[in-house]
Amino acid sequence: DRRIRIAPSILSADFADFGREIVAVEGQGADWVHVDVMDGHFVPNLTFGPAAVKAFRRHVRGFMDVHLMIAPVDPYIDAYAEAGADMIVAHVEAGPHIHRTLQAIRATGKKAGVALNPGTPAEAVRHLLDLCDMVLVMSVNPGFGGQQFIPGAVDKIAALRAMIGDRPIHIQVDGGIDPVTAPLVAAAGADVLVAGSAVFRGGSVERPERYGENIRAI
Ligand code: DX5
Ligand code: ZN
Repeated sequence: DRRIRIAPSILSADFADFGREIVAVEGQGADWVHVDVMDGHFVPNLTFGPAAVKAFRRHVRGFMDVHLMIAPVDPYIDAYAEAGADMIVAHVEAGPHIHRTLQAIRATGKKAGVALNPGTPAEAVRHLLDLCDMVLVMSVNPGFGGQQFIPGAVDKIAALRAMIGDRPIHIQVDGGIDPVTAPLVAAAGADVLVAGSAVFRGGSVERPERYGENIRAI
């Protein structure tokens, strides 16, 4: 089913209060919870190890996708699966053997996704689609929330939608998604929209209604 889903990135939540932040965004209509894992090597920022993701899992009632911006990735797949990810997403650019990585994710029983940096063409996933439940199109260079949307992502999404055809594969877009850019990527064929700053801005666990307003505005 290709209805549009909103996946708030908890990278924009209050880092001292993840449990209540997760409950608040899910209560306000988030479809998925998106977790950005960064290693200070593949991307110039550091975030969550498997123990943190396991702690998030105790609060997430719905679907949790874990976006691994780490290299190498294979040594950590089992740990993030055991931490409770519903889907594990790895980058094409993170190593020479993304096909093997996707096989390893599928072997854990979790859903598998493959991510593309802004400079990587759609063609890079053509021979991976049989191993994918989702393709993630980065619409910013990964590492930080609050960056400006890169317009070239729209054409890439359209190319992927044509390549995927009627296979049951989600197209997720991540970076700079807000009420202006969301309609563009949805029209091109994206069906899972990650948003960090556009969901969390102006709200808090004390004022969660704002999260709901922000989600509905996207
Ligand atoms: C960037 C992350 C994104 C980011 C999105 O590396 O993958 O999920 O947090 O943040 P916004 O929506 O603020 O661009
Ligand atoms: Zn992400």
